[in-house]
Amino acid sequence: MGEGLRLGVNIDHVATLRQARYATMLESPNAEPVLIDAARECEQGGADSITIHLRADRRHIQDEDVFELQRQIATKLNLELGNTPEIVEIALEITPDFVCLVPENREEITTEGGLDVVANRNELEPTLARMRDKGIAVSLFIDPEPDQVDAAAALGAEMVELHTGAFANAAGDAPREAAEVQRLIEGAKRAHAAGLQVNAGHGINTRNMVRLYRVPHLAELNIGHHIVSRAVFVGLEEAVKEMRLVMDGYGSSW
Ligand code: PXP
Repeated sequence: MGEGLRLGVNIDHVATLRQARYATMLESPNAEPVLIDAARECEQGGADSITIHLRADRRHIQDEDVFELQRQIATKLNLELGNTPEIVEIALEITPDFVCLVPENREEITTEGGLDVVANRNELEPTLARMRDKGIAVSLFIDPEPDQVDAAAALGAEMVELHTGAFANAAGDAPREAAEVQRLIEGAKRAHAAGLQVNAGHGINTRNMVRLYRVPHLAELNIGHHIVSRAVFVGLEEAVKEMRLVMDGYGSSW
């Protein structure tokens, strides 16, 4: 397994909590929780990278957050973004360690489906080229479908992040869940065979992680909502440690 499964902790919802009270008072000394403190706790708990999504509507992460995290974190910054000119320019200016291109629409509560790389190939191509020129590794957040995997490889992306939302949403329905795991297994094999680094994310928690042990070739998971929710009870550092502990079982069972 090499160096083991890496964990990117998505701290968007730490910012969601701050925005709930301080959206118009970010300069206030009272503004909390402080995002950089959250990132440091995640790092202390064993996060390998800090993941944030700068959405066009700025509902949680703000531009200043991205700059500050890039300057101050000890690990790597993974910036999620939609392929829109405004956000792409910001990403190129910040030059995070890696980016993950995601679909984005304003009405959704969270990223609901994978990026349609097949249909959006012409729009994605120049963005990938610009990221490559800056030395930024690119991941594409896709559903585990053969044509999407093939399109990501054809575009020259370094990584794919397989969308685990359908798997997570199948909780409590064993046959549907097994089918989703199978889809992820096949997607991971195909992506790996095409030379792509295989990441996964969305809806992963300490309960469903064990079922992902069967998915081969996983390099990195991005996990947000569960860890931030758990942190309400045990603190961020401990919540990250709990997740890591379950992730550490990966690779020993196949
Ligand atoms: N990966 C991507 C590409 C995402 O958009 C999200 C949600 O922001 C996540 C991972 C994390 O999902 P969750 O918050 O459900 O763990």
